[in-house]
Amino acid sequence: MSEIAIIGGTGLTRLGSLEIARREVIHTPYGEPSGPVTHGHLFGRDVAFIPRHGPGHTIPPHQVNYRANLWALQHIGVSRVIAVAAVGGIGDEMFPARLVIPDQIIDYTWSRAHTFYEGNLKQVTHVDFTEPYSPDLRQAMIQACIAVGIDAVGHGTYGATQGPRLESTAEINRLARDGCDLVGMTGMPEAGLARELGLSYATCAVVANWAAGRGEGEITMDEVGRNLDAGMRDVARMLEALMPR
Ligand code: HPA
Repeated sequence: MSEIAIIGGTGLTRLGSLEIARREVIHTPYGEPSGPVTHGHLFGRDVAFIPRHGPGHTIPPHQVNYRANLWALQHIGVSRVIAVAAVGGIGDEMFPARLVIPDQIIDYTWSRAHTFYEGNLKQVTHVDFTEPYSPDLRQAMIQACIAVGIDAVGHGTYGATQGPRLESTAEINRLARDGCDLVGMTGMPEAGLARELGLSYATCAVVANWAAGRGEGEITMDEVGRNLDAGMRDVARMLEALMPR
């Protein structure tokens, strides 16, 4: 049983260092997850891996079945979830290819299935979300970065947008006024659903590009690809340091 899981985002559809033991297809009361859960060993430790956008990167952010992914991970005994996610950088220190461990999130998404608490309820439930990410898991990731000399940012507010299009400059300016340092399309409802299930959840964001209007000219998929390649090498090093031998 793996108690730690990694949800891979854009740029991380497979974990190169994962020694694959088996793949498990899980059907959930909420429909199908993004793909089979891969069980394996990462630097000697049992982990489960699921690619958020599907094994072939075909599921856009607004169509990811977040409920099924998280339900499936809990079903196989996972208690801690590391979410890897590509983001745009808004604040000056959030430059491309940098890793960021955010500590807050604002939800701008709409019409996504965002809760397990609906339908035939015995009572209405409101989960606490004051600290949207697990402080322990965040600290572990920050310490792992320090241990291997990765210059990560250990804080920041993630603005979760609907996508799949990127934002306008005015939308990014509004996010900045709201206090967002990063922008991404998958942070919610994932973080909220993890909390509803009582999972420890934290995000390792990889800055793929300057957010709209913060860099020069248009955002190109070329620059996104290059920055994600560089950032994912650091994610692999961070994960290696995080896994106790
Ligand atoms: N905006 C939203 N999501 C993203 C971006 C962005 O600029 N870059 C990578 N994911």
